[in-house]
Amino acid sequence: MPIDDFNRRTILAAGLGAIAAGATAAPLDLTATQDLGPFYPVMRPLDQDADLTRVAGRRGVASGQRIIISGRVLDHAGRAVPHAALDIWQANSHGRYAHPGDTHDAPLDSNFQGSAKIVADAAGRYRFVTIKPGAYPIGGGLQRTPHIHVDVMGRSQRLTTQIYFPGEPLNATDILFPHASPQASVIARALGAVPGAAETLAFGWDVVLMTG
Ligand SMILES: [Fe+2]
Repeated sequence: MPIDDFNRRTILAAGLGAIAAGATAAPLDLTATQDLGPFYPVMRPLDQDADLTRVAGRRGVASGQRIIISGRVLDHAGRAVPHAALDIWQANSHGRYAHPGDTHDAPLDSNFQGSAKIVADAAGRYRFVTIKPGAYPIGGGLQRTPHIHVDVMGRSQRLTTQIYFPGEPLNATDILFPHASPQASVIARALGAVPGAAETLAFGWDVVLMTG
């Protein structure tokens, strides 16, 4: 099955769940706000498309576990937020940001785009391809668990947050991971390997804004 067909199905399934929740008039749990962090991109490659595993003009592919993250941007009633903008940035597979403030002794990856600016469609659906970010040290013997930063701009509301991965051992000790319930709003759902592309893992993550 082509990857796009698979993602259309998974996005549709996620969206139908949200619509069903909205239809019952039970408000959805809002996505938690998370810190912007110190590595918001100050140097971006010209290429800011939805495939972070390749940089335009380069032949190589980013190192690391290839993943696809897809979902919808919704308001608290489960209504789509059409054409929401998502500003995405993350560490590479070695846990290093392409940022002058990241002096961590881990290699840069010139084939990794590192950041992206994408726009959801009219039904609030988005999708991007990237690599799973590595953990990185923050001093004091602590490490940030793997996460992806996202700044979501709806029609009337902006939300800065981070996407986490389920089952990560470092989630338990991360200083920003939300240890108190509800946690689910910032943890992606593991959807397994992408049919026809077994080396790629799919994750689902919906963003819920109060007003959209
Ligand atoms: Fe970070």
